[in-house]
Amino acid sequence: MRIFLTGATGFIGSALLPELMQAGHRVLGLARTEAGARSLRAAGAEVHRGNLADLASLQAGAARADGVIHTAFTHDFSRFQEVCEQDRGAIEALGRALAGSARPLLITSGTGMASGAAGRLRRSGSSRLERAHAGAAGLAPERPRSDRRSRAHALLGNLCTGHVN
Ligand SMILES: NC(=O)c1ccc[n+]([C@@H]2O[C@H](COP(=O)([O-])OP(=O)(O)OC[C@H]3O[C@@H](n4cnc5c(N)ncnc54)[C@H](OP(=O)(O)O)[C@@H]3O)[C@@H](O)[C@H]2O)c1
Repeated sequence: MRIFLTGATGFIGSALLPELMQAGHRVLGLARTEAGARSLRAAGAEVHRGNLADLASLQAGAARADGVIHTAFTHDFSRFQEVCEQDRGAIEALGRALAGSARPLLITSGTGMASGAAGRLRRSGSSRLERAHAGAAGLAPERPRSDRRSRAHALLGNLCTGHVN
């Protein structure tokens, strides 16, 4: 498969790139700078120039691929809400580019964790406020983390071993 890999020059993307290639896939890496493009070529990837702020460039990359792995993220915590909105827009744009096809979209994300009480582990959906919000919004109960993680791992494992067609 030809995989469009956003964030291919980043911490996670640069680790995924050789694994995908060793598994027999071609990687089309997103680069927003010429230095990034050079490093992707040196690693054996094809380059797609674009930027998270340019949704058309992301969709053009997705259109050139059999599947997408999205690991790009602007780690600027001084404008965290803005960069999260940018990430949401990028994921939605990539999803629209793949809609109606069997081509997979795998994304990475982060969750800010803060302890609700000293010494206690904070769990997503565990607070009364979060449950109230979910109820008011008519949202279904969240799927357990372990289930979501195992599905993501299975898909990534299949990509790396070439079992996704
Ligand atoms: N690293 C972890 O331990 C960890 C843990 C949990 C979740 N995550 C999540 O995994 C994802 C990737 O994390 P990471 O650690 O690999 O991040 P990273 O090392 O900061 O890499 C970010 C990547 O995104 C690219 N990028 C940043 N802004 C961009 C923009 N405006 N347009 C296009 N590309 C842009 C960077 O390109 P440049 O090379 O051009 O800067 C780089 O390739 C994030 O969503 C993060 O929250 C990471």
